[in-house]
Parts: sequence; structure tokens; C-alpha cells
Amino acid sequence: MSHAPAPLPWNRPLIGDEEIAEVLDTLRSGWLTHGPKATRLEHAVRERLGVQDAFAVTSCTAALHLALLAGGIGPGEEVITPSLTFCAAPNAIHHVGARPVFVDVDSTTLNITPEAAAAAITPATRAIAVMHYGGQMCDMRAFRALADQHHLLLIEDAAHALHASRDGMPAGSVGDLSTFSFYANKVAAAGEGGVLAGRADLVQRARLLGRHGIDSSAWQRHGKRNTADYEVTVPGLKYVMSDLTAALAAVQYDRLPEFTRRRAAIAAAYTGALADLPGLFTPTVEPGVEHGWFLYAVLIDPDAAPLDRGQVAAGLLERHQIATSVHFKPVHFLGPYRDMAHRPLPATEMAAARQLSLPCYPAMTDQDVERVIHAVRQLWT
Ligand SMILES: Cc1ncc(COP(=O)(O)O)c(C=O)c1O
Repeated sequence: MSHAPAPLPWNRPLIGDEEIAEVLDTLRSGWLTHGPKATRLEHAVRERLGVQDAFAVTSCTAALHLALLAGGIGPGEEVITPSLTFCAAPNAIHHVGARPVFVDVDSTTLNITPEAAAAAITPATRAIAVMHYGGQMCDMRAFRALADQHHLLLIEDAAHALHASRDGMPAGSVGDLSTFSFYANKVAAAGEGGVLAGRADLVQRARLLGRHGIDSSAWQRHGKRNTADYEVTVPGLKYVMSDLTAALAAVQYDRLPEFTRRRAAIAAAYTGALADLPGLFTPTVEPGVEHGWFLYAVLIDPDAAPLDRGQVAAGLLERHQIATSVHFKPVHFLGPYRDMAHRPLPATEMAAARQLSLPCYPAMTDQDVERVIHAVRQLWT
């Protein structure tokens, strides 16, 4: 009797004894909200990126919202951003009353380009919010020059790129502000969570806005002054990361070199074994890029491959119990953004039809990797 193999999920976090010990330590400490563990994570991000400040928050979405608020982006203003992304940045732009202006991506890296962004600048443009697709950092030297030339705020949505660099510059270190995600499927997973990093004046403003506009944190007041002794200096929101989350996030963050090495090895194995398949395009990595490999994103050209993207995904799932994912359904195809006027986005729409993310994460065994390679190749025979 043959046994069907266990399903292989698209993603699974790798949580070890150290993470569990840190969370238990927090549970036993008597301090659960933003405090010493969040401070540890903020220090680690600051050290790795070499940025002036970092603030641990509830999600990357919260970090994006705070980035726009701290940057003073508001009604009537435009923010240039990709449509080939998760809806978080466009939604945050919407919530400050501004308008997302979608620009097209490069058809091989799936990152927006400085040229496309430059062509979209109008007198209403206030910011560029790039996104490092799949963990490959955008050309930030060129984006920095463009933003400086036009006096624009530069935001890096580095949700996919917690441990990536280009020409020796870490992702998240070039923008005025950058945002990171510790969501359950991200390269450092804490269930939920995010970090806002960057210029001290802006992060300080965000810190105030992210704790109701109150002039001190709960940890700063704890044991030192009456907990009711505070002032609300501006109307803010509640976005601070809890120490329970930070305990998990900080250990995962410290393990990123190990995790990224494993992701890169899996990516290299896939590229070595799949690059010859007709109509399947393995990821393009630009010179100088240390890829973070959150995604192993292939493109499947239905005119040259035996199957289209949907058929490959269905074949892997139904015949091999291997789950895949798609990044992304472009935001201009979704809900409130569908009716918005936008520039032509041909490469974004090509990727929407052809892109597929294969499982690529450190909890995979070598056998899992071989299984995926074998299954994909079988679909091409
Ligand atoms: C590019 C991008 N930005 C932002 C987010 C939002 O992250 P979070 O879930 O931490 O708010 C995601 C989440 O998947 C993402 O892929």
C-alpha cells in the first residue's frame, strides 16, 4: 500500500528552544507590554542597520501608517508605490488621506524602478514608498538621489527584507524611514509585529504617535512615577509591540544570518535544478544584491511552458500535496483601488498572471527541497 506524502506547506516558522525560553522568561517577569524585550529588539535593529532609531510596533502596517503620519503626509498628497505588493502600504496611504500612485515594476526583478518613479512625480508628490520584492533590495542609491532631488520622503517597505543588502547597504538603511514585518510567514516570525526604523526625529515623532501621543512610555513610568501622571501631547494611536511578541521577535531576528543562509541554499538548489525548464523563469538577482529570499518567485510563461501558472499550482497541490503561493494579486485589481485611475502597469499585470512562489524556508529538509524539484520537473514531462 502506498502512502500519500504529508502535505508540504508553503511556509512554516522555525521556532526553537531559545525562542520558547525567552517567551517564558517574559511571562515570568511580570512585564508583558512594550518594555525591556522590545528595547532589545530596537537595539538589535539599530545596530544591524546603522540607523539612528527604531521603534517596535504591532505590525508592518502600523509602521507604515506611523511613517506617513510622522512624515506629515496628508490629504491631497500623492505617494508613489508599487501595485505589485500587499495592500498594507496603499491602505496606510489611504488612511492618512493621501493617494497611492502605482508605478510599474521591472519585469525580471519585480521591483519598482527609479525611472518609473521619476516619470510619476507631480507637484502633489510627497513621498516614494518602495518595496523590496521577495527580499531583493531596490536600487536605493538611485531612489535616494531621486528623493533628494525632488525633496520627497523616502520610505522602504522592507517587510520582505529583514536580512538583505545591496552594494553593502542593508535594506532599510537608506530611506528616511523603513518598515519591517514579523508576521507569521515572514523571515523572522513572531505571529504579528513590526519595526519602524530610520531618522531620529521621525522615529521619535512616530513613537509619540504610536503610544496615544502620551509623553512617556508605560515602562518609563513604571515604578518611577504615578502611572496616571501623563500628558497627551498629540492625538495618537496605540501601536506598541508587546514584550511577549518582542521576546520571540528578538530571538528570530538574531537568527537571521543562519536562516538566510539556509534560504539561499534552497534557492540555489531550485535555480540549479529548474532553470532549464522551458517557459519557467527562475529569479533574477542583480549584481551587488545579497537576497533575503523571503520568496522564491518564478515566472511561468504559458506560451512556452506546458502548463500555465494556475495549472502548475494545482498540479503541485493535487498530485504532490505541495502548497505554493502568489505574490501578489496587484492592489489595483482590488476593492477600492479598482476604480482608481492609474498609469499603465503591463509588467505588474504580466506578473499577476505568471508569478508563483515555491516553498522556501529554513524548516524545510533537504528531502523537502528534492521533493519540490522532482514534482515541478514531473509537471514539465
Ligand atoms: C510588502 C508587505 N508590506 C507590508 C506587509 C504587512 O505586514 P504586517 O502583516 O506585519 O502588517 C506585508 C505582509 O504580508 C507585505 O508583504
